[in-house]
This record gives sequence, structure tokens and C-alpha cells, in this order.
Amino acid sequence: MLEKNPVIFIILAFVVIMIGTTITMIAPFKWINSESDKIAEVKPYTPLQQEGRDLYMREGCNNCHSQTVRTLAADVERYGNGGGYSKSGEFVYDRPHLWGSRRTGPDLARIGLKYPDPKGAWHRKHMADPQSVVPASNMPAYAFLNTPLDTTYSERKMKLLKFPYTQADLDDLKGKTEMDAMIAYMRKLGTDIPVKKAAAALQTPVTLKNPFSDLKTVEKEAEAIYKQQCASCHGEKREGTLGPALKGSARSDAELFTIISKGIEANGMPPFAASLDAQKIWKLVTYIKLDSK
Ligand code: HEC
Ligand code: HEC
Repeated sequence: MLEKNPVIFIILAFVVIMIGTTITMIAPFKWINSESDKIAEVKPYTPLQQEGRDLYMREGCNNCHSQTVRTLAADVERYGNGGGYSKSGEFVYDRPHLWGSRRTGPDLARIGLKYPDPKGAWHRKHMADPQSVVPASNMPAYAFLNTPLDTTYSERKMKLLKFPYTQADLDDLKGKTEMDAMIAYMRKLGTDIPVKKAAAALQTPVTLKNPFSDLKTVEKEAEAIYKQQCASCHGEKREGTLGPALKGSARSDAELFTIISKGIEANGMPPFAASLDAQKIWKLVTYIKLDSK
């Protein structure tokens, strides 16, 4: 009966759809993006980082890279880099957000934690020629970003976005290349969240004694971890590339364990305590002590 009256039908259909819309899309604003989701440590972008972010959009990096670590354990382990999953408060300064929906390449939400080197040596090499670092990579080369950065609108962007900036920040843009801006942006991603250090502290074992003295039992597994986590900086055969050679290190087991756990961030060696458990780090220590074959 009713369906034969188009006006009533349209009104009722509209009401039903609005109920669904209200419940799923409008009502949640009551309890998300509230004050309690704010994260004090999350800082707005500097002019250089913001320029990098704009280049990231210009180049369409978001077509291959997402920027959100889901709450799934596998996601956190693979992309968290010790920072855990993404929280809504981390995105307050992202306009527009770059969560993305495709992962042809890895998620980059926490990439700043993965390569903490202030000079960005890893990124420079990787961006210019991805295959020189990760041989199987299908990421295109971006060596052409080594051109002077266009800063015409830098200040206007900061004003429009209402981000704080100083004259020193703007002066800092002088002589910078597009590559510098991109790397400044990469190095910022995920680093505002302070959970990494806490996770690292939990991982320190009570004794610094290597439980794996017999290489034979761990070699296979250690080699796989090494290839995945270390080879891009220390070379496929531990011969050293961006980082030093690791063949048959003369350092003690405890020393190696400490270096791998805590990293030497100022010089570009990332900490692994938050992404690898103690057992895996010990296996790597045993593997590193192995002499070249
Ligand atoms: C065609 C898809 C594609 C595009 C476009 C692309 N990437 Fe990638 N990217 C990849 C793949 C695949 C990897 C993993 C292999 C590697 O490390 O090279 C990767 C890796 C990376 C990594 C290292 C991730 C890690 O966890 O080690 C960074 C950083 C990165 N890309 C940044 C960028 C930036 C910045 C852009 C845009 C200028 C970009 N990518 C464009 C596919 C892409
Ligand atoms: C992003 C690049 C990068 C990655 C990834 C990386 N390292 Fe390093 N590593 C470095 C750099 C650079 C140094 C040199 C730091 C210094 O001289 O202070 C270093 C130093 C070291 C040292 C000390 C070497 C010595 O005797 O002075 C050890 C041990 C080490 N790395 C092990 C590892 C292991 C194991 C992994 C994988 C779990 C790894 N690294 C992953 C860059 C990296």
C-alpha cells in the first residue's frame, strides 16, 4: 500500500537512512576526537616538514603507502616500530590525512622510529635508488627530488594551517632541496609518541648472558631476521654499507646485545628492543660473531 505512494515512500526511506547515518556517522563525534584523545606530545609540522608532506602528496606516495597502523597484532609488530598502533590524536595536524588504503609498500606511520639517523643517510640512498638498499623493491627512484625547494608559499601555508613557526624556521628553508624536505617529513612520522622508550625498558633482560652459544641451532632463523632487519644497512653478507661491517665482530656478546637493543640513534643505528624480543636479539648476536664463510 504505502509503497504505492511515492511521496510517503521517499520520506520514510529518508528517515530510515538518516537513522543509520546518525548512528554510524554523526553520533560517534560525541565520543571520538574529544579532549581526552588529544596527545600533548604531538607537535605540528615545521615549515620544512610541511613542505615535505606536500611533496609526498604531489608525488602520490600515498598511492603505495598507508599511514596508519591498525590495532591488529600483526600490524603493530610489522609497522609499529615500537610505537604501537595509531591513535586518533596523532592526526590532529594532518590536513588532509594520508591514511591511504593501499599497501604496495610498507606502512609509513612510524617510519621516523625505524630510521632515526638525523642525517637521513638511509633515506637518501633509498629514495635516490630503492633497489640499491632493498634489491627486490618495486618502488620508483626519486633522485629527481634533489632540486631546490620552492618556498614561495611556505609561510602562507603555516599561517593558513595556524601552525606556529619562527623566522628561524623559515630561514632554515634556504638552500634546502625537495629531498631534504621529504626526509625531514619521513623522520618526523611516528616520533612524537613517547611509548617506544617504555617498551624498550621492558625488554632489557635480567642478565646479559647469551643463551645461544651454538650457532648451528640458530643460524637459519638469525640469518632470516638479519636479512629482513639489518641487511639494508650492514650489507647482505655483513660486509658493511651504510653501517659498519659486522663480520666476526670483536665485541663481547653483552656489548652487541646492548647496541642492537638500544641502537646508536645519533649515528643512524636504530634501536631494536621494541621490535625484536630478547631471544631474537641474542640469536643475532650469535650470528654476528660468526666468521665470514
Ligand atoms: C609503486 C609503489 C611505490 C611508490 C609510488 C612509492 N613507494 Fe615507497 N616503497 C614501495 C615498496 C614496495 C617499498 C618496500 C621496499 C623498499 O624498501 O624499497 C617501499 C619502501 C619505502 C620506504 C621504506 C619503508 C621501510 O619500512 O623500510 C620509505 C621510507 C618509502 N618507501 C617512502 C616513499 C616515498 C616518500 C614515496 C614518494 C616520494 C614512495 N615511497 C613512493 C613502493 C612505493
Ligand atoms: C638504518 C640503518 C641500520 C640498520 C637497519 C641497522 N643498523 Fe646497525 N648500525 C648502523 C650504523 C650507521 C652503525 C654505526 C653507528 C656508529 O658508528 O656509532 C651501526 C652499528 C651497529 C653495530 C656496532 C658495530 C660496531 O662494532 O661498532 C652493531 C653490532 C649493529 N649495528 C648491529 C645491527 C643489527 C644486528 C641490525 C639488525 C637488527 C642493525 N644493526 C640494523 C646502521 C643500521
